[in-house]
Amino acid sequence: MADISLFDAIRIPFPVLAAVDWRPYHFAIQRFHFVVRIAHIMSMAAFFGGIGMLDFRLMGWRGTVPLRAFAEHVLPWVWATFTVTVITGLALFLYDPVAVGAHAYWTPKLISIGLGLVNAAMFHRGGYVVALAAERRMPVSARVAGALSLLCWSAALVFACMDTEGVPKVFLR
Ligand code: HEM
Repeated sequence: MADISLFDAIRIPFPVLAAVDWRPYHFAIQRFHFVVRIAHIMSMAAFFGGIGMLDFRLMGWRGTVPLRAFAEHVLPWVWATFTVTVITGLALFLYDPVAVGAHAYWTPKLISIGLGLVNAAMFHRGGYVVALAAERRMPVSARVAGALSLLCWSAALVFACMDTEGVPKVFLR
């Protein structure tokens, strides 16, 4: 297990977290916090399912399904569910920015999300057109973009889980 102080250098500074902490919002949302959390996890799961299918398709799985039709069906779903994930995620963050920002893997999670978006944008600008033209046999650029995407979104999910479910301090036997 890596030493979590490894991430000290990239943490959001305390004054910034404290500055966005707005108690009236915290108190207003208090009784609905669990609903927002459920919405975040459900939309995240729906998003992860959609992007995962697309990533596997780009990596060459189910190569008999035409890419264009597949992407046209799945992309609106991916964008809609990602939007809800971001909105509910921000609502969870603003509920208690200092507590969330103090979680060991919070910035690694944000970095994974950022890298996932950068990867998607870069692929959209370049390799996507080539992949659409290739239709069935995916070019290397599409396979790499699919694998990187899966890696980034899986990392975001794993970091989020590690934030809320820490490794036990004492191992019972
Ligand atoms: C900008 C986008 C996002 C923001 C601001 C955000 C924010 C949050 C916050 C504040 C929490 C509460 C727990 C904590 O303190 O860390 C949380 C939980 C979680 N998030 Fe996100 N999130 C975002 C996107 C994502 C994405 C893209 C994924 C997965 C691919 C994800 C997966 C999870 C999971 C699995 C939990 C754990 C829930 C739990 O066990 O309580 N989130 N998120």
